[in-house]
Amino acid sequence: MIKFLEDLTLLTLRIFPAEAAKNITLRLLKLIYSLNLIGLVASSNIEKSKINIKNLSFKNRIGIAGGLDKNAEYFHILSSLGFGFVEVGTVTLEPQAGNPKPRIFRFFKDKTIVNSLGFNNAGSVQVLKNIKKYKPMFDGILGISIGKSKNTKTKNAWQDYLHLMDYFYLEADYLAINISSPNTQNLRELSSHENLEFLMEKISQKKVQLVDMHKKKTPIFVKLSPDETDDNLKNLIAVSEKNNIDGFICCNTSSEHTYPNPGGMSGAMLTKKAENIQKKVAQLKQEKSSLIASGGVMSASDVKIRLTNSADLVQLYTGYIYKGNSLLKKALKISSS
Ligand SMILES: Cc1cc2nc3c(=O)[nH]c(=O)nc-3n(C[C@H](O)[C@H](O)[C@H](O)COP(=O)(O)O)c2cc1C
Repeated sequence: MIKFLEDLTLLTLRIFPAEAAKNITLRLLKLIYSLNLIGLVASSNIEKSKINIKNLSFKNRIGIAGGLDKNAEYFHILSSLGFGFVEVGTVTLEPQAGNPKPRIFRFFKDKTIVNSLGFNNAGSVQVLKNIKKYKPMFDGILGISIGKSKNTKTKNAWQDYLHLMDYFYLEADYLAINISSPNTQNLRELSSHENLEFLMEKISQKKVQLVDMHKKKTPIFVKLSPDETDDNLKNLIAVSEKNNIDGFICCNTSSEHTYPNPGGMSGAMLTKKAENIQKKVAQLKQEKSSLIASGGVMSASDVKIRLTNSADLVQLYTGYIYKGNSLLKKALKISSS
């Protein structure tokens, strides 16, 4: 039965067009969950892999990266499959359709995906409703990734992030500031020297207000691009830390690739690059800053390498799409050994 359900999921992912396949598979998981059969595919929780990071108690170190559950409709199911944390979003203030389809391209032989989705999401109001609806069934740490809307100009982007912080601060276990997606025009300008200092100061001031207002400290992580120059990476980390950012998610998709389709590359062809940039971040960051590894984690050995190179937590996305629950099981096992 377990094998059948796993095979069915992987088959769905293979035979349908990429975006439809992802949606059908998530719906299939929802059906399995509603029939109370999720226990058949779930990976058992391993007690000794519990870990405390920034005062958050993670049941294990393995999570789902931003963008799989954009509208917070499946995070409770992903946690019941065994993931210790789920990062929902990226959410923007208003609903957005994203870029024209097709916008997810799979390269099976390379175990790689190129996507140009462009923050398609149901918007902050609907996503908050979904979070409130499914949170009682969720057993894990909830990250909420926030981003600027397509139509917001770079100079006004800080206002989007601050509104989104106000909106999600209480519900989030942590917030992820997405300034690294290659698919929203001008988004990555926010990480340039000129714009970053201003944005980070605003975020830091807002955090002080929110801590005071809610008597709750929600850690804030910045998600980095793998395409940063060394100089920019150094500046990003220094400016973020000066403004009390709690850590880094390393890294997003890369727009430096040779596939014919536009967008960010993820999966096996990103593995080496992500591993290298993580090493640089680990060297540059202060010890107190947390490090969440993302990018090309396709095997248990990748998990091990990321943890050995200072990652506190590891996120899966493309690896999980290609390999399903067997990767999660192996990742849980190796991260707890
Ligand atoms: C289809 C797709 C959609 C994504 N959407 C988001 C997103 O909305 N927000 C985000 O921070 N990252 C997003 N990502 C990036 C992933 O979170 C992850 O950082 C990246 O894919 C590298 O990890 P991987 O190689 O394990 O997939 C997306 C990735 C893919 C493949």
